[in-house]
Amino acid sequence: MKEGAASPVIHDSLKRLEYRGYDSVGIATLHNGELQLKKDQGKIDDVHKLLNLDDLKGNIGIGHTRWATHGAPLKINAHPHLDCTGKIAVIHNGIIENFSELKLELENNGHTFVSKTDTEIIAHLIEDNITKNPKYCLADAVNETVKRLEGSYAIAVISTLEPTKIVCARNESPLVLGVNQNGYYLASDIPAFLPITNRAIIINDGEIIIISSEGYEIRKINDYSIVSREPKTIDWTPEMAVKKGYPHFMIKEINEQPSTLRNTLRMQDHYLDLISTFLDRAKDVFLVACGTSYHACFAASYMFSKLAFLPTYPVYASEFVEQHGKSVNIDSTILAVSQSGETADTLSSVTCAQQRAATILGLTNVIGSTLTRVSRVYIGQQSGPEIGVAATKTFTSELSVLAQLALRLSKKRGKVSQDEMDFLSEKLEKIPDIVETIICNQAKKVKQIAKKYKNAKVFFFLGRGISAATAYEGRLKLMEIAYVPSIAFPAGESKHGPISLIEPGFPVVFICPKDGSHKTLISNIMEMKARGASIISIIEEDDEIIKKLSDDFVEVPKGIPEILSPIPFVVPLQLLAYYMALEKGLNPDTPRNLAKCVTVK
Ligand code: F6R
Repeated sequence: MKEGAASPVIHDSLKRLEYRGYDSVGIATLHNGELQLKKDQGKIDDVHKLLNLDDLKGNIGIGHTRWATHGAPLKINAHPHLDCTGKIAVIHNGIIENFSELKLELENNGHTFVSKTDTEIIAHLIEDNITKNPKYCLADAVNETVKRLEGSYAIAVISTLEPTKIVCARNESPLVLGVNQNGYYLASDIPAFLPITNRAIIINDGEIIIISSEGYEIRKINDYSIVSREPKTIDWTPEMAVKKGYPHFMIKEINEQPSTLRNTLRMQDHYLDLISTFLDRAKDVFLVACGTSYHACFAASYMFSKLAFLPTYPVYASEFVEQHGKSVNIDSTILAVSQSGETADTLSSVTCAQQRAATILGLTNVIGSTLTRVSRVYIGQQSGPEIGVAATKTFTSELSVLAQLALRLSKKRGKVSQDEMDFLSEKLEKIPDIVETIICNQAKKVKQIAKKYKNAKVFFFLGRGISAATAYEGRLKLMEIAYVPSIAFPAGESKHGPISLIEPGFPVVFICPKDGSHKTLISNIMEMKARGASIISIIEEDDEIIKKLSDDFVEVPKGIPEILSPIPFVVPLQLLAYYMALEKGLNPDTPRNLAKCVTVK
């Protein structure tokens, strides 16, 4: 900033980003060539009350609110992180995949680490580069450092070595620069600086940006060539900016799935290995969760069975104690799945199992949540905060992590040939792109379907095999968001009772991947069609047979393996719930009677 202290401006901007999640906060500034730093765990207001974040001196600085990915939400893990000399401060969003290797290398070179984060290695790598190449300026050192990082990052670096500069770089994590006459404001999201300026430049993947009082310079990380890009005017209101221009969080989060799914492919091998080892040794495996997370567990029971030949019991957490409380024992393993990590029913199942000496494993989106504290081993699914009450991106991420666990276990048990493993791993890598294609190409069509069926009194959702889980999730989304009573069954069960509801025009949604049960599913479609049902099918794009049987269809790219199919096939169902809610004039982000995190039993 040209005038005034940076820290109150950074503090205000962090407050505007608090909706993205917070578990700790920190600010570092440069004043008279010295680094000043305050940070602690807790919400911004609480930390400010304790430390006064506004009285750091200097007109240049960096600040961060953290959504823990590596390391618990503790003061030592709060950003900014420093190098050994305390001269370089770094903040970072994203996940560094090769951080364990880099950390080991740096430790062998004599660096000492104080945190459990992946971020801290960046500060030490910059220090290392400067020590080994005394001619390097800060920007050179940052540029060389980011070339060694694998994964996603948006980083900002300041240093006493060049106390008038901020150097930032980006790969797959958002970074934007706000510009006005009084200064430059780099942030992960436009709302951070929108009240200060609406002139902004989006920094692209593979770019580094150097800011000083003289101006800004954007360069390509690869060849250090200059990029010229002028600021654009952002005409969003602050409310629109928080939703990235989308009208609701739910649709924003549906659209985030390609990127959140990519994040799930950056899990640390170590944790996947550990969890699959525990699953391998267990006598009984219970997959315990509520609501949408239960549907992920239900799908996972097919994955574990088909890939690793491991029978598992998916159980509603609210029923676990009654159903299995007496039979669970020291040989049992509980894999508890909870986006929030705080759902009361899930936690009470865990407590019951723990009291009976069972092993507790966790899968959650919130590092530092109770589930992470009570689990022997846990995996953070890295979806980022989910604000819409309906779980969308966190469901597909849970599925992706569970599929990876099933693959690990399969490999451990030698149950699937190397060729099939390679094929499935390759397909898993492609799932984010497939989901992107579905959202781009099919949203309009789903919107029309919602319009057509907006007055339907009730919906059926049917699928066979693992697609029964997709059907359950489609039903839950439509009920909770659009208040349309809905029924879901494994398609084969529909003729054992539910079919009596069918009369002409009754909408029945079929989930139709081209898997082993495809032929039988066609018979189930015929049964419904014969009774006058309106068939809405989610099909693979070359599925001409089901296309002909359907009144309406939504297409997903072909060639998706059965065990991965719930991930892409649920996306049109999320969109259907969303557009149905809009057709009915409802706000999909805040369905009545529901809370994002259910902390009562
Ligand atoms: C549905 C939904 C809920 C949650 C359930 C479990 O869209 O969000 O059904 O899935 O309350 O929550 P977590 O996963 O936080 O334990």
